[in-house]
Amino acid sequence: MIKTRICEILEIEYPILQGGMAWIADAELAAAVSNAGGLGIIAGGNRSADELREEIRKCKELTDKPFGVNIMLMMPNAEEIIEVCLDEEVPVVTTGAGNPGKYIPAFKEKGIKVIPVVASDALAKRMERIGCDAVIAEGMEAGGHIGKLTTMVLIPSIVRAVNIPVIAAGGIALGEQAAAAFALGAEGIQIGTRFLAAKECNVHPKYKEKILKARFNQVTVTGVTTGHPVRLIENKLTRKFAELEFSGAPKEELEELGRGRLRLAAEQGDVEWGSVMAGQVVGYINKEETAEEIIKDIMEGAEKKLRELCEKFFGGEKE
Ligand SMILES: Cc1cc2nc3c(=O)[nH]c(=O)nc-3n(C[C@H](O)[C@H](O)[C@H](O)COP(=O)(O)O)c2cc1C
Repeated sequence: MIKTRICEILEIEYPILQGGMAWIADAELAAAVSNAGGLGIIAGGNRSADELREEIRKCKELTDKPFGVNIMLMMPNAEEIIEVCLDEEVPVVTTGAGNPGKYIPAFKEKGIKVIPVVASDALAKRMERIGCDAVIAEGMEAGGHIGKLTTMVLIPSIVRAVNIPVIAAGGIALGEQAAAAFALGAEGIQIGTRFLAAKECNVHPKYKEKILKARFNQVTVTGVTTGHPVRLIENKLTRKFAELEFSGAPKEELEELGRGRLRLAAEQGDVEWGSVMAGQVVGYINKEETAEEIIKDIMEGAEKKLRELCEKFFGGEKE
């Protein structure tokens, strides 16, 4: 079985995290992932402090295993969200869109592990210096908001830059891809898109259906010109976005068009005018499975692939 420092630090069986996904990742999904031996993560990005507290308490009822909360630091209520995480002593927080530095002492005092999402080696180094326990390096194959580098390029650059464990995210849905991430030096993987098809994922059924049916070439990126690129499935919204983007519409107009769109798709099921965020791996995902089945498939697949490679390249050698 593949064991890494991530298993030790987070006290989990498999080095696999379910990505926080705003408007989607709730207590039910997080608990299912944690019960299956990974680390489930509740999205904090879209919730009020009270809603988050309720979700955390629900998760504690559904699992006695460690789980996490994803905090988007640029949200206006980030301080309150952090207070709830401290108060509820959630085992792990992952952070995005900002620097968690000033909160680290408070998290440490409560024994809460802090894992920021990074998209460059410079940022990863800074996060190591301020005392983070690991980093999630997310390549631009991922669903949702993306950086510039691919997982293939990003992971080794971060692994070479820091000593804390690196968790690879973006473009991982199969055992082979997990094996590749481990080969690049990652000690854990974070999966978003494939968990959208989990039975325990309460995203709107129309969103889930889109994920199951989408082909690789239906995944696109909007917002490159605004500096906030997002990877998602093509629909009326993305076509409208492209039309405006390439006609030189002002940034404000584009930002206005994008506002509230993930909620529209994920909660209300408007998959034409909502933002159906998904990663490039979506073409591989064509059946609903439990979180446990997904984790087993990926981890057993990774182990099988790594063993096969050893045998194939070094099987006949004595030393
Ligand atoms: C629908 C959706 C919503 C997401 N929302 C968030 C979020 O709120 N916070 C965050 O840090 N990452 C978010 N992500 C990124 C995931 O946590 C994860 O890192 C990413 O999906 C991994 O790449 P993959 O999609 O190729 O598996 C989101 C991804 C998706 C697909």
